[in-house]
Amino acid sequence: MLSGKHILVGISGGIAAYKIPELIRMLIKAGAEVRVTTTRHALEFVTELTLRTLSGAPVYSDVFAAINAHATEHISLPDWADLMIVAPATSNVLGKMAAGIADDALTTTFAAMRKPVVVAPAMNDKMYQHPATQQAMHTLAAYPDMLMMDCVSGDLACGTNGKGRMAEPEQIMEAVRYALTPKTLRGKRIMLTAGPTQEKLDPVRYLSNYSTGKMGYALAREAWYRGAEVTLISGPTHLSIPAVPALTTLPALNIVSVCSASEMYEAAMQHFPASDTAVMCAAVADYAPQQESAVKIKRIEHEIQLPLRANKDIAAALGERKQAHQTVVGFALETDHEEQHALDKLAHKHLDWLVLNSLRDAGAGFGTDTNKVTIFGSKGQKKECPLLSKEAIATCIWDTISL
Ligand code: C5P
Repeated sequence: MLSGKHILVGISGGIAAYKIPELIRMLIKAGAEVRVTTTRHALEFVTELTLRTLSGAPVYSDVFAAINAHATEHISLPDWADLMIVAPATSNVLGKMAAGIADDALTTTFAAMRKPVVVAPAMNDKMYQHPATQQAMHTLAAYPDMLMMDCVSGDLACGTNGKGRMAEPEQIMEAVRYALTPKTLRGKRIMLTAGPTQEKLDPVRYLSNYSTGKMGYALAREAWYRGAEVTLISGPTHLSIPAVPALTTLPALNIVSVCSASEMYEAAMQHFPASDTAVMCAAVADYAPQQESAVKIKRIEHEIQLPLRANKDIAAALGERKQAHQTVVGFALETDHEEQHALDKLAHKHLDWLVLNSLRDAGAGFGTDTNKVTIFGSKGQKKECPLLSKEAIATCIWDTISL
């Protein structure tokens, strides 16, 4: 997702600096190349050796140090970087950044940066509330190409509890992905379904399937990175999407949690009229027990019959209701005659696109981190996305259906 990206990490002197080596590790794991610049005080909290070892490059912390290859790192580093992160950003550094003061390695580097910057503030709650800090953060939030994150509430290092904590590294990663993605879906409202449904049998049992929701969640995140307002109707999964606390205005990403197919149907009907695109990624149970027993069904020594009723087909219902400006995308997981079944579904459900995954393809389908799909369009389009991570498949799907 960040492969080949050059990320410049600027660290200032707050206790939250101890979390930045972990952030650097996450950036590198995601494929990015990392360079680090710090204020002098940051190195009281995290060592130069740690930062140099993890990033694999010298740390730029002293404008006049002889170690610098040439004395203009504050220009060459911003030129090299695709994005700069300032985390933690102390009230001191925020004030300097907002006022255009450049008196050390980090702030001179920031002053020369003309590409996206993600700022994650961290400080004591009283410092956070000070009008000077608030003004600096709101000034920065209004700059173009700036994603000014907000502090979060919780325990603070000074022993109190209040608003001043730095956003977690996972949330900063999410902000970085958002800031680096071109906004090709800006202004679009996108509804998705994801995960399995659970159809209750009795107070302790249900019918369900192996869906984990990974593909639907990856599609929802990618749509949000591209600037869309996203409503994700999710069946029960273990997944979550790190929320990005921000002072810069970001599009909404709402998760509506449902359990059964009929709850998913109701939620989809409610949100569809205000949506431009609906992506039906959920593995909706086709059948539900005709009756949910109020008490636990007792074990008996002979076979029992379990009468089932058919659930409503959400994708087909949306396909029937869709207006001219709306697009409906369905998924199909097939085990045989894949292409024929996919094309039949595309037509019968009045879909605009159908994404086919075959259980016969190794690495594709339920629970895996990878997928391989073929996308069919109602106008005869066909696009194959090779075996890739579900994040990369989400990119391939949005690239294809946004055309
Ligand atoms: O017919 P089949 O279940 O294979 O179709 C799969 C597609 O239909 C998926 O997009 C799935 O989310 C959707 N679907 C639905 N409601 C159902 C069953 C399937 O929206 N009850």
